[in-house]
Amino acid sequence: MRYSTQLDHGKPIPLYDEAGFAAMRVAGRVAADTLDFITPYVKPGVSTAELDRLCEEFMRAAGSIPGTIDYHGYKHASCISVNHVVTHGVPSATKILHAGDIVNIDVTPKFQGWHGDTSRTYEVGAVSILAARVVRTAHEAMMAGINTVRPGATLGDVGAAIEAVARAQGFSTVRDFCGHGIGQVMHDAPQVLHYGRAGTGVVLEPGMIFTIEPMVNAGSYQVKTLPDKWTTVTKDRSLSAQFEHTLAVTETGFEIFTLSALTGSLAGP
Ligand code: MF3
Ligand code: CO
Ligand code: CO
Repeated sequence: MRYSTQLDHGKPIPLYDEAGFAAMRVAGRVAADTLDFITPYVKPGVSTAELDRLCEEFMRAAGSIPGTIDYHGYKHASCISVNHVVTHGVPSATKILHAGDIVNIDVTPKFQGWHGDTSRTYEVGAVSILAARVVRTAHEAMMAGINTVRPGATLGDVGAAIEAVARAQGFSTVRDFCGHGIGQVMHDAPQVLHYGRAGTGVVLEPGMIFTIEPMVNAGSYQVKTLPDKWTTVTKDRSLSAQFEHTLAVTETGFEIFTLSALTGSLAGP
């Protein structure tokens, strides 16, 4: 691993070689497999603690360690965020899913020291037209951001593409949380904002590895974190959806490490 000559907020940006890519392919596969595995369990009546337990069991059986456990004091194998919960929802035995809910499950397994980080928002039973539109828009926003990634493009291009998709639906993107560099460290440089101005910011170079993980709110972009210090909700209690992939900048574009092997697709709604 070497570093870019560019800094992001004063921090060096790693550039990974083929060995790093190979390790991230495996870690990303474990992360995507975890979400494929949990999909059939996301049903009315299940608790978010039970979904977390199943995710943990799967990640450990796959030879990985949930990277979130003991991360800055976090105690769970996943973050599970329901409806107006934007991110870092804490799994709970008393939080039961009901038909009509939308629920994001975010997992970050560490396999042989390397992190895969991915999330999807699932629909529980039949959901409202608005809920379905927020979920679809979050996925489309993430993919629009990913599709800008190539050498010479900028992180501003990524953020602007994401924000444009959300705004076209009358939705907003959260500003208080961002995508991030990732590898042997879960949260590294660069910061990947989900809004911004095209042509500004860090210039993408082959070998950069980061997540793109836009949170799209049906209402305002403003959020607040609850007294548990983790659970973050929309200030106006509007619905929020999120998708996350871990990807690399290649010589010609991008490589997504957290694609679903099951569907061979992008596993969107
Ligand atoms: N997976 C989250 C992300 O996308 C990070 C969770 S850290 C935790 O960056 F401590 F909240 F679990
Ligand atoms: Co992430
Ligand atoms: Co994540």
